[in-house]
Amino acid sequence: MYPKVIIDPKKYAFNVDYLTNLCHKHQVSLMAVSKVFSNDEQLMQVLNQSNVEYIADSKLENLMHMKTHKKKVYLRIPALSELSLVVKYVDMSLNSEIKVIDKLNEIAKQMNKRHEVILMFDLGDLREGIYYKDFNLDDIKHVLNLSHIHLKGIGTNLTCYGSVRPTQETYLKLKQIKDLIETQLNYKLDIISGGNSSSIPMLLSQSLPPFINNLRLGEALILGRETAYQEKIDHLYDDVITLKVEIVEIKDKPSYPEGDLGYDAFGHKIEYRDKGMMKRAILAIGRQAVDYHDLYPLKGIEFIGASSDHLLIEIKEGTYKIGDVLTFKLKYGAVLSLMQSNYVEKDYV
Ligand SMILES: Cc1ncc(COP(=O)(O)O)c(C=O)c1O
Repeated sequence: MYPKVIIDPKKYAFNVDYLTNLCHKHQVSLMAVSKVFSNDEQLMQVLNQSNVEYIADSKLENLMHMKTHKKKVYLRIPALSELSLVVKYVDMSLNSEIKVIDKLNEIAKQMNKRHEVILMFDLGDLREGIYYKDFNLDDIKHVLNLSHIHLKGIGTNLTCYGSVRPTQETYLKLKQIKDLIETQLNYKLDIISGGNSSSIPMLLSQSLPPFINNLRLGEALILGRETAYQEKIDHLYDDVITLKVEIVEIKDKPSYPEGDLGYDAFGHKIEYRDKGMMKRAILAIGRQAVDYHDLYPLKGIEFIGASSDHLLIEIKEGTYKIGDVLTFKLKYGAVLSLMQSNYVEKDYV
């Protein structure tokens, strides 16, 4: 049945090995981010058989059910209400609130465990992390004195909310924090986690500062793309996961709606363009499963719009009939939503 995603674990394995080797060549360890494929068992198996050091996920539910012998990392800043589960199921978490780390310590003590922490710093991208200008050695001393917390390292996240690309200048802010901790407190940080798939161009051009010894990669592994410039990475597969959808209607109709125009199915007022008559088709998928802006259009086909369960396209070239199945390559948002949808089948090459 369609819609269906086709998952190719061998292509994923190739991407994972390629990027792991690249990272290791530069003495950078790898946290493979699994959230994008929602704990898919076959893709998890690829990660388990790979040389990546850690599996990182932003969904605690995924980490709780994950079958892996690798160290598990919780990517999202933990909420106070979930800390028992964090300590129970996860080896390491990214943190930015001292109050949360204190509580993690308390719970870890009760469970007789030692929880590893990466302290996140915000270098200007303005999502998670202690703002780098507010860095304070007393906070670090405090964390180092906690009996059941191991300050494993520091990290940053870039090109996320604020679109800030990693550069030498931006990374210098993290280097200064690292140096202050290591020299003033005589404490060696094991991990300096420099970011996500947007750091790959620096890695490829040998310009990633050598003090960075860890990256957390999701998109590059699954889509073969870096995210600083949105370029495809040479040699990698960009079709580890593709989408197949069926055509359920084809008709010649006007492009401009007819009648008294109000709002669309989502309560939005839409500006329609009159392009005359066109060959329109309906694909059996809609916004409940995917935002069509996150699909790469096919040659000769243009997206017109979508409601919850219908995707409208204009057929400009080519001959199609009812029942034909179209295959789309995916952008990141599409992989995220399709892999979580109960209405999209999953099949493997
Ligand atoms: C903190 C953090 N690090 C790394 C990643 C991975 O980002 P990307 O998929 O761009 O490699 C994410 C997002 O999944 C994240 O939230």
